[in-house]
Parts: sequence; structure tokens; C-alpha cells
Amino acid sequence: MCGIIGYTGSLKAKNILLEGLTALEYRGYDSAGISMFEKDGIRTIKAAGKVADLAKKTEEYQDLNGTSGIGHTRWATHGGVTECNSHPHTYGKVTLIHNGIIENYHELELELAATGRYPVSQTDTEIVAMLLDSLYTGNAIAAIKAAAAQLDGAYAFCIMFADEPEVIYCLRNASPLLACKSKEGTFVASDVVALIGYSKDYFALPEQQIARLTKDSITVTNDMDEVVIPKMLHVSWDITAAQKKGYPHFMLKEIHEQPDTILSTILPRITKEGIVDFTVEQIPDTIFKDVNRIIITACGTAMHAGLIGRVMLEKLLRIPVEVEIASEFRYMDPIMDHYTLVITISQSGETADTLAALRLAKSEGATTLSIVNVKGSTIDRESDYVLYTQAGPEIAVASTKAYTAQLSCLYLLTYRFALVRGTITTQQCKEYVTELRNVIPAVKEALTLNKHIDDICSNLADKEDLFFIGRGIDYPLCWEGSIKLKEISYIHSEAYAAGELKHGTLSLITDGVPVVAIATQSKVLTKMISNIREVRARGAFVILITNGEIELEASAYDYPIVLPKTPDYLTPFTAAVALQLLAYYSCVHRGYDVDQPRNLAKAVTVE
Ligand code: F6R
Repeated sequence: MCGIIGYTGSLKAKNILLEGLTALEYRGYDSAGISMFEKDGIRTIKAAGKVADLAKKTEEYQDLNGTSGIGHTRWATHGGVTECNSHPHTYGKVTLIHNGIIENYHELELELAATGRYPVSQTDTEIVAMLLDSLYTGNAIAAIKAAAAQLDGAYAFCIMFADEPEVIYCLRNASPLLACKSKEGTFVASDVVALIGYSKDYFALPEQQIARLTKDSITVTNDMDEVVIPKMLHVSWDITAAQKKGYPHFMLKEIHEQPDTILSTILPRITKEGIVDFTVEQIPDTIFKDVNRIIITACGTAMHAGLIGRVMLEKLLRIPVEVEIASEFRYMDPIMDHYTLVITISQSGETADTLAALRLAKSEGATTLSIVNVKGSTIDRESDYVLYTQAGPEIAVASTKAYTAQLSCLYLLTYRFALVRGTITTQQCKEYVTELRNVIPAVKEALTLNKHIDDICSNLADKEDLFFIGRGIDYPLCWEGSIKLKEISYIHSEAYAAGELKHGTLSLITDGVPVVAIATQSKVLTKMISNIREVRARGAFVILITNGEIELEASAYDYPIVLPKTPDYLTPFTAAVALQLLAYYSCVHRGYDVDQPRNLAKAVTVE
């Protein structure tokens, strides 16, 4: 969750570290710090607050000319948001930064206390600095290996030893760490966005191997001290893709990128005959043939995409599909075997719970296929098969374009699956593909509702509770609408199956309570209309979302959001746009930080 950057080379480290931290801030943003090798030893500057606060503080120091250092932007896990708890942490000769959680830190702390070592912060990270210092006798790699043997949990560390100027050591377990080399020096970071300005070629540090960065080389060694050559990866987008391009917020830019990202996700998987094909990603048809059960597991928005995927897969395949929240899945003793296909979905490819679910599925013999946005991420590397969402970098904490790219992959997967199993014909597959492609202009048109939705949201600025209701495929969409609104506008909201309201929740619908009624499914439209009338009769402020115009008396709602007409099963794409805009403008009207909502971070690499 935290952002990590390390650099050693010929340029001023302070500038590189601060730039890197600014790019990484979306990963965690409650405090930040940097340490550099300076003439008089290692110097550390930290600040509680944003990277901008840290940058301002560094202006007080005119003598920071070091060309090697490490930087960190924090998302607090152990210990409050204070300067003291910010990273880097120094103990004795060791200065380090950390992303992850050390689960056995308290036991280690007690053991270290017996040797007279006590922390000054409340963090698990400082305990590791203490442990390393206690093990260090001049050989950094030996100390790191000995420390790693005692650590339980997820971690990515960048470590400097006062004895070894301008050298950075790195180690990771589960948490991501990427490294690259350019003519300016060597770099390490928790996310490629911090590296891309220097090189498009990088590698992911393999788990439990140690990288040693000097000004002109990176050496990776394994536990036998043998030099390892990691597999190089290439990033296809450039630095401008991770910039705002004139939009006031990354989230708005990313919402507007969706016609392109859906197209980039769909197009390479469609043959010239117009059917879906996964030859390029080397997903063999055999994996679809013998499956008798599908489990989709993911977290948050990615899980919500899975809920839509379930509807499509079950509709066309008639195979049972379960959707499980990854953080619950592995503790539920799930039933899996060789005939189970487990689909994990993750934008970052680093979500700790989703990764753990994937590992469990593999250990039980299931076939694993992941839908991932970040190439080279841990989930990407550990899955049997991968289908990439071509969404490009998603910087806003609230996921938008990744969601519709995940939907695109799930629809494509459904069509290939159904084709291979013979539950649809080639002709039907072509028709489905054509309809899917036609969703792109519909999404473009949905984006023109921008201003209308902005106006609607001015009515929500003072609301504290809101309900989303829907039926059929609109119900999982309600979940997505609800999470988006909650996470950035801080309006409490609930997603409800419209037919379920009268079994309890209707008691909360009183005068002026906003209800977003998603009514895009003709099959259940009359039932949905009855539910809208029920809430209206209790005074609800109704925002009605429909698939094209529907017949309903204007007194049944306050504001309509009329989506461009698509086949009913494709409305998740257009409705998602409306729901994203609804969350976005609600946040803007309430004056909160759109891209970096409180308490959240982009990649959840801790459980
Ligand atoms: C919500 C959101 C989160 C993520 C979830 C999974 O807008 O972004 O709910 O969807 O944390 O993250 P990934 O997809 O990276 O595994």
C-alpha cells in the first residue's frame, strides 16, 4: 500500500525521490520521508501529511546534494500518522523503508528488548531496522538473509547501511518491488509509474532474492548467493498515460478514457472472422472443456465485475459460477478440484487477499486464470493463464476504467468458453462480439451525460445516506455504484435488491432520502417500477437510470438518467459510466479529495 522509491546514480537524489514519491502517492498518502547518503552520513527528512509537505520541508535544507537515497509514502498500518512513525526508520547503521506488515513484529520486539534495543516509533518497520542492526557485522547480505529467516508477513524493503555509501539493498516477500537501470543510475520502486520516466524496461525482484543497487549495476542473488538474471519486462505505455492531460482529476480522466480502454481490451482478442480467440495469450481451449465449476474471486470493484461476469457465464454456459470475496474465500475451506476453474480479477495484480486466494486455488489443483491490468505483477506471474485488461495506468484510487476493462475480459471469456463448449454457435459468437463492439459508441454517448449528472449531484451535497436499488444484472451494478459513492464522497450508501427492500430496509426510506433506481432490464421492468413507486410513496428523492426511454409517469422520479440504448445484458458498461460520474460529482460538490480519498490506497498489499 505504501509507495517505495530508491535511487543511486549521478543525479541529485532528493529530486528523483520527491518526483518518484509524487508519482507513487496514490498508493498511500498519510506521511512521507526520504533518506540520502550525504557527505556527513545518512540524512533523513520526514513529514506527516502529503508529499508536498515533505517537499516543502526539504526546501529548508540547502545542502542536500547526495546522489543516492530511498523514499517512502506511507499508508499507516502499525502506529498512528506521525512524523516519528513515517519511514525511513534508522537504527544503528541501518536505514530502511518498508511496504507490508510484519506479523511477528511483537515477538521480535520482545527478543530485541532482551538485547537492550528499544524502538522509538510504534511501527513494525523499525523493529526490522533493529533486527538487521543486531545481525549486521559488516556483511549486508548475510544480515538481510538472517533477518528474512525470522520475518513473517508481507514485505518489500529498501535498505541502506551507513558503512556502504551509495548502495541500496532490496528484499521482498509478497509485496511488489521493481527495478531498472538507465544512464542516470539504478532505480527501485513499488510501481512502474515511478520508473517509467527513466526506463521502459524493468524487472520484478523475485521473492526472497536480494537486489544490490550500485550507481551502475544491479546484482540479484538467491539464497545460495548465486547471481540470478531476472526476466525483463517492458511497459507499453509512456509517462503521459500517467498524467492528468488537462482534466482536474485523474478519476475524471480515467472515466473518459473508457471508450479507448474497452476497445484496446476487446480488439486484440477478436479474429478477422469476428470471433473471440485467445491464441496470443496462449490460453488453450482445453481449459474450458473439462470444467464443471467456476469460482471467481477478487476484492472490491474487481469482485463487482466478477458478479456481472457470473450472470453472463451462467447464462451462456449453464455451469455453476460462484463469486467469492477473496478475503473470505480462503478461510471458508472452499471446495475445489481439477475440474474447477478459478478466475481471479485484479487491477493491480498485487492485492494480498486475491493473491492468497490464487495460491490456495493452485494448491488445491484448480486451474487458475487471472484478469489483471498490471503486467509483471505477482498475480500475473503466479497464475496459470492471464488475460490482461488493457486499461493502462489507473492512478485515481477509485477504480473506473479497470472495471469496464474487467467486464470486457469477462464477456470475451464467456464467448470463447461458450464457443468451445458448443453452447453458442460461431454465428452467435459473431453476433455477441458485434454487440460488444457496439458498446463502445454507447459508452462514448453515456459520457455526454456528464453535465446532467453534475447538476443532479448538486442535490446530493448535503445528504448523508443513499440507496441504490436494482434487479437482475442491475443489482450487482448497485454494489459498484455504492462502493464508488462511499469511497470518494463519504456519503453512506447501501446496495439493495429492489425486491428485498420491503423485507426491512424500507423503514429507512423517508422524506428526501435519495434512491438511485437502476432500471435497465426489460425482463423485470414492471417489477422494478413497482419498487420505485414504493420508495416514492415514502418520499424518496428518486434518480432513475434507464436503458433508453421507458414509459413511466414523471411524478415517479425526480431526475432521469437515460442511457443510450444497448441490449439489456450490456448495460453494465453504460450504467457504470453514469454511476462513476455520480460518485465523482458528488465528491466534487462536497469538496473532498477525489483521487486520494481518506484512509484508502490504490494497491492493497496487506491483508
Ligand atoms: C474501488 C477499488 C477497490 C479495488 C480493490 C481491488 O474503487 O478500487 O475496491 O477494486 O481494492 O483492487 P485490485 O483490482 O487492484 O485487486
